[in-house]
Amino acid sequence: GSEAFPAQPPDGKKDKKGGKAGKSKTSDPRASKVRPFQDLWIPPILEGKTLDLSLAKYQRLFLEDKATPTYGYNGHKFWGPTLILNQDDTVRINVKNELEEVTTVHWHGLHLPAATDGGPHQLIQPGETWSPTFTVKNNAGTYWYHPHPHEKTQKQLTLGAGGLIIIRDPIEAKIDLPRTYGIDDIPLVLSSRRFKTDNQFSYEGDNDKYGDFLLANGTMDAQISLPAQFVRLRILNAEIERGYELGFADNRTFYQIATDGGLVEKPVPLKRLKLMVGERVELLVDLSDKDPQSSLDLMAYNAGQSFGFPGGEPDKGPPNGSYFNDKDFRILRINLTAPTQKRVTKLPETLTVNRFPSESEVSTRRNLQVTAGRPRFSFDNKFYDMHSTNQIVKLGAVESWTITNNNIFGHSFHIHDVQFKIVARGNEAPAEYERGWKDTVYLPRGKSVTFLAKFEDYASDTDPFMYHCHMANHEDGGMMGQFLVSKNPAALKKDANGMVRI
Ligand code: C2O
Ligand code: CU
Repeated sequence: GSEAFPAQPPDGKKDKKGGKAGKSKTSDPRASKVRPFQDLWIPPILEGKTLDLSLAKYQRLFLEDKATPTYGYNGHKFWGPTLILNQDDTVRINVKNELEEVTTVHWHGLHLPAATDGGPHQLIQPGETWSPTFTVKNNAGTYWYHPHPHEKTQKQLTLGAGGLIIIRDPIEAKIDLPRTYGIDDIPLVLSSRRFKTDNQFSYEGDNDKYGDFLLANGTMDAQISLPAQFVRLRILNAEIERGYELGFADNRTFYQIATDGGLVEKPVPLKRLKLMVGERVELLVDLSDKDPQSSLDLMAYNAGQSFGFPGGEPDKGPPNGSYFNDKDFRILRINLTAPTQKRVTKLPETLTVNRFPSESEVSTRRNLQVTAGRPRFSFDNKFYDMHSTNQIVKLGAVESWTITNNNIFGHSFHIHDVQFKIVARGNEAPAEYERGWKDTVYLPRGKSVTFLAKFEDYASDTDPFMYHCHMANHEDGGMMGQFLVSKNPAALKKDANGMVRI
């Protein structure tokens, strides 16, 4: 077929004026080669009340001539199976570490006890198995799992360790939505990689955060056959730093039906959607107007260096490049086929009713600042310290958190334990597509975000939850804090700063 769009992201480090020219900023010449399409890999499903995951190292051929060392779960040479969990089920997950280094597995977006959360404290040593048991409390939606060992997250993610989690619940099950996995309900994990000359993934240098080879579910130059009907896409941005501005090549309208934490109240029509690192979205797109045998590209568009949230100065991005892309490129070639027998034929008018915490319930307001700077960022001038808490929250409290970024770079803020409700970006209300449950939010340079969350169900005076920038290089560099949710904060033994030694 014709190549209307480049298949690969551009090098994010272009510097036309030549400043900071000391570092290598040229993209890999292999990236601009036109290669044949490959079928999008659909991660197989792992379902049930007892699940086994095992992380090991592999070799996989991405580029011709030499295989790339990778990590993967359950024999997959990159990434892992999609876990399907049912709300209210109590599940046990046995995670075996077959690596030669320590790992953890964090269930991103899930509300569960801190000791089962899989953050930096729940280390799984080489050869060991960690077996958390928890009850699935979240709404139907798209979540994910990935390693979270302090200072090793970027490496392990880059090598391929991660997987999706789909939660099902009775509310979602009653709506007429596409849900035949791999047929009209498609998982789509976006990331990109940079290769060294020996074909190893690069994950230590300053340029590694913006790969020049796009991987969709680990597939390079991906294509998929989809029926010409309503199709659901579950999209995760699993990048290190790059944001995506998504849209279709013919500029068609699509509908957002879910944010990080599940369904929105009614479908939100969009032509473009920004998705930052760690965020998920579920989209419905009506392809019934397309001829079987035609094709359509899902694209990443140039968002420039202005993210364009109202009420703030334009985001200038990093000094020598944008973390959004500076060129359009194709994410996925969609080849249309005949509609399936059983199919969704109309857009649902309403989806769910979300009961968000309200301003009047707020008992505590916290203000966090993004501090320090390249290459290491922090919150409130404190780099992550595993042995000290940064916040103490009372069990059951509804809190308002404002994160202010008067720093030199945009960030992607993520908090464990809760799903939150964004109430303001600066002085403005959030855009419609950000009005659902969230656990990760883009924090542009020069702006602030305020959200409300209820910290309920799980308390521990010894096991903290994390909050951090989801740009893995920032997280590894110490842009992370931890909080305890305590039944009785007053009774905790605190240090001179009012914090607890862990
Ligand atoms: Cu997806 Cu604390 O991470
Ligand atoms: Cu950051």
